[in-house]
Order: sequence, then structure tokens, then C-alpha cells
Amino acid sequence: MEQRLRSPARLRGIVAVPGDKSISHRAAIFNALASGAAKVENFLVGEDTRATLDCLRALGVEWSLDVGGSLGTVLRVHGVGRGGLRESEEVLDARNSGTSMRLLAGVLAAQPFFSVLTGDGSLRTRPMGRVVAPLREMGAQVWGRGDGAYPPLAVRGGELTGISYRMPVASAQVKSALLLAGLYARGETAVEEPAPTRDHTERMLRAMGARLSQERGVVRIEPLEGELAPLDLRVPGDISAAAFWMVAAALHPDAELHLPGVGVNPTRSGIIEVLRAMGADLEVAEEREQGGEPVADITVRSSRLGPAEVSGDLVPRLIDEVPVLAVAAALTPGRTVIRDAAELRVKESDRIATTCGELRRLGARVEELPDGLVIEGVQSLSGAPCQSHGDHRLAMALGVAGLLAQGETVIEGAEAAEVSYPAFWQDLERLVAGEQVREATRRGSGT
Ligand code: S3P
Repeated sequence: MEQRLRSPARLRGIVAVPGDKSISHRAAIFNALASGAAKVENFLVGEDTRATLDCLRALGVEWSLDVGGSLGTVLRVHGVGRGGLRESEEVLDARNSGTSMRLLAGVLAAQPFFSVLTGDGSLRTRPMGRVVAPLREMGAQVWGRGDGAYPPLAVRGGELTGISYRMPVASAQVKSALLLAGLYARGETAVEEPAPTRDHTERMLRAMGARLSQERGVVRIEPLEGELAPLDLRVPGDISAAAFWMVAAALHPDAELHLPGVGVNPTRSGIIEVLRAMGADLEVAEEREQGGEPVADITVRSSRLGPAEVSGDLVPRLIDEVPVLAVAAALTPGRTVIRDAAELRVKESDRIATTCGELRRLGARVEELPDGLVIEGVQSLSGAPCQSHGDHRLAMALGVAGLLAQGETVIEGAEAAEVSYPAFWQDLERLVAGEQVREATRRGSGT
């Protein structure tokens, strides 16, 4: 699908961003393992979370989706309890979703049966050795292409023993896989992270009765006694989806966007800190708790920005927001430098290369670093044909660039947004059309 867009004269309105992708995956998987039924409101129904749900069904978990009510989509999961998963007759297809593959690898490592996990062309090139090696150390039999480096993965799970493991990369997916395996292992499992990563797994498992502690960068989990308790929750709005609108509003010359109910977990809120440090007029109001996670209402207005330096521990706290942050930097006077982000090379696309290449097509001054980007702000971007490389976050970042560029931007492969934000283009068109309706009314009434 091709998306054509032009910058509107104004950008004003309210956007209810979809439920958080990371929390939606976890709510589905953990409740599937619990004993009894759970109800998850505002569940994200995107390509990635559908992949997780389909894998769970193949493993014998029943669930239903109630789409479109006032509570957002409601997922009902009938947890099968300990020992309740059954061997799938089919290959489990995680499609584009690294979270599905890595978290399920952790779960399957503890199941006394055989499973095969695969994914789409992008996922089959993404590194899996980071979960395969520690799961083997715990006692699981795991195979994959390149001796476990790449999917498809085959897992013969069973009796596991807890390990103490320092992760070579800061990855919430690896941490979560090991904590899930650790739930069913003999003895304690300890996972040390080189930098703090999103802690949704820790929060949710603890709320479901797991014995888990966090201290000085080490998360420890004790073997589960009895069953995980099902957890009803309402999923917060996805800060990674909200980030597109934050950047659009901060950079557009006449904008004010309201984003209600966005998750502001400190392990995810790096984008808010950076945009504020750049000078964004960004308000975070009515902070409250929802489903064990902090949530707030965010308002962003047109701002005059200055450049940023992004590196170190901040990077995992905004890793998925780098493509759209690069769009902000492309239009911000001065030099923005993003480092320590080599992980971007192994996301849904090589996001250092694809972000750099596509933004250049729009007239941005961007250079690649091995582990990041250097961006010299320009006065304006010029609309041009560009493409998503099948990467949802790049598709949407280019959408934001198109809202800010002069002339027409044409985004090839725009349907990639379905992975995490199926209504993205509708929300964007609604905001743009709202302006056109107002313009027409104003012209019609002669004001
Ligand atoms: C995710 C963790 C991050 C992130 C991904 C979702 C998760 O990946 O980029 O979009 O849900 O745990 P890593 O943990 O591999 O860095």
C-alpha cells in the first residue's frame, strides 16, 4: 500500500493511541500460563500481537477478542495453568514479531514437548543466539539455523535448572524469556542487565504471584509454587505509538495534540525526556496507575527545538523511538548525535541504514555511525517517494516526516504500520482532514 500525504496548515486534535504492544503480548502470554480466566481491556490488536495469540491457540489456549467496544478491544484468555500447554501440530509462526518468538522460546523451553518457531523474512534474519545460549545453559534443547543463531528454532523443553546470567546486550525480550523459563526451573534464576530495559514482565509476573526481586541491575525469580493467578488489566496507551504524534506536534508550526492515557513507565519514557531537553512544549498531566503501570495524559504543542545528544543508559529507554526522533532532529537546527544504539541494526530492519537512507531522500542531512546517527538539522524537508522497508516504525516515522515536509511525500509499504498501530493512517488522515473541514467552513463563512 502506498500512502500519499502533504503537510496540513494546522495539526490539532485528540489521538487515543492503541494499547501498548509490549504489555499486550505479556498480558496474553502470562494469562495463558495462569490458572483461570482473565480479561484484558484496550488490548492491542496488531499483526504482532495476533501472531502471539495464534501461537497460543496452537498450543491449546482458548481466547476471544471483542473488538470495538467502549473499553477498546477486550481480550479474554482462558489460562491453562501449569502443565496445561499442549504440543502444537503446526509450526508456530511469530511473523514479524521478535517479542513473540523470544518470549515464547522461554516458555517452550520449560514444556516437555517439541515446538518449532518461525517468522517472516525479517524475523528469520534477527539474532536468536541471545536467547538460545542461556536457555541451553538452563537445560533446554534448542536448535536453529547457524547453530541456534537464527530462526526457525526447534525447542525440546523439559526439566530446567536456574542460572545466573549476565546478558551481553540490554534486551527486555531476552530478560523476559529467561524469567519465564526460570518460573518453571529448579532453583533461582538471576538475570543481570548491562542497562535497564523495560520492566513490564517483572511488574506483571509479580502481580500474578511470582516471587521476583530487582536489585542493582539484577532480576531474580524463584520457581513458581502452585499457579500464576490470572490478572485482569487495562493496557495503557503505547508510548512508542504516542511518540509519532509528540514529534509531529512539537515540529509542526501550528499544532496542539492531546494524547490521553499514555503509559509513562520510566523504563520507556526516554523520548519524553529527550524531547523536553530539546525544548519541546510537552505536558504530562494526571499521572495515575493502571494495570500496575504509570499512565498520564500528554499534550504537545508547536515548539522551537535545539539538538540532542543521546547515548548510554538512555538508549534502551527510547530504542523504538529512534526513527521518529531522527525526523525531529532532521528539522532541528544544530547537530544531534545518537550513539550506543547498535541494536537498531537488528530490529525489524537495519534501522540505522534504513532511517538514514529514507530521510536523505526527503532532503535530510544524516550520516550513519556504526552504532547510531549524526543528524544536521535543515530548514525544511521536501516531500519525495520513500519506502518503509517493511518496518512499521519506519513507515510511521516517514508519515510524520510527510506531515512536516514541503510538497507531497509518497510512502511505499505503508501497510507495515499494521504491526503495532493498525489505525495510524486513519488517525493521521483524520487530523489532516479535520483541518481541511475547518478551512472549508472558514472559507464558506467568509471569515
Ligand atoms: C520489546 C523489547 C525491545 C523492543 C521491542 C519490544 C519487548 O526489544 O525493541 O519492540 O516487548 O520486550 P529488545 O528487548 O530486543 O531490545
